[in-house]
Amino acid sequence: MNFTDQIVIVTGASRGIGRGIAQAFARQGARVACVATTEAGAASTASAIQAEGGVAHAFACDISDSASVDNLFAQVLDQMGTPSVLVNNAGITKDTLILRMKDEDWDRVIDVNLKGTFLCIRAALKPMMKARYGRIVNISSIIGNTGQAGQANYAASKAGLFGLTKSVAKEVGSRGITCNAVCPGFIETDMTESLPVEMREHVAKTAPAGRLGAPDDIAAAVLFFASRESAYVTGQSLTVDGGLTL
Ligand code: NAI
Repeated sequence: MNFTDQIVIVTGASRGIGRGIAQAFARQGARVACVATTEAGAASTASAIQAEGGVAHAFACDISDSASVDNLFAQVLDQMGTPSVLVNNAGITKDTLILRMKDEDWDRVIDVNLKGTFLCIRAALKPMMKARYGRIVNISSIIGNTGQAGQANYAASKAGLFGLTKSVAKEVGSRGITCNAVCPGFIETDMTESLPVEMREHVAKTAPAGRLGAPDDIAAAVLFFASRESAYVTGQSLTVDGGLTL
């Protein structure tokens, strides 16, 4: 899978899975647009890529804000050129039981995880349709399939991505654009760091792979969906969880 000179946008690239995905693309020759909420966060990944000899630019954007997203895509087009790959990785949690969940907890998670992904896809489709080529990969979660007590907002946002992914696939499939989803299991990042040690041990024991996942495990699946070679695969979701949910 070669991405030489392809322009790849990765949201939530400052750390964790997004950083791993951005670095994996750069190692395969892509020019990567690293997007995060802060300029400093995006720049830290862009610098790490440049230090390895890769090409990366840093952009600050709040993906839940349509003006911020439109501004991001205008800057990418201007500074880098037409993107051929969009990876919608940025996501947040605001966990609590439904009876205690505030309207703001619900709204913010849906706004970032689901609406933010929609806004980025809408902005990316214009240049991709012109180019008659594009690869869109949405990072969902096994929780979107299984549900989870204390994560109703997050589970709903991630399940919503399945409907969005399939609809995009149907709308633009004839234009050479595919849209797929990757569903990570338990991956070691800041997002999962605060979870109890017993839960981490339980996952490592229960998953047939015998360990927690790493950002590189997710990047490998993303690169497949983003490759030219996966042209006939669209509207699909691939679970990458070491067999945890079998
Ligand atoms: P993380 O918390 O380490 O990083 C999240 C990234 O999203 C950061 O770069 C942050 O700047 C960015 N971000 C947050 N809100 C944003 C906004 N409004 N606009 C732009 N960027 C924003 O998260 P992690 O663990 O790397 O997760 C990445 C994705 O993978 C998320 O969508 C998450 O839901 C999903 N995921 C993670 C799993 C895990 O075990 N870590 C499991 C399943 C899915």
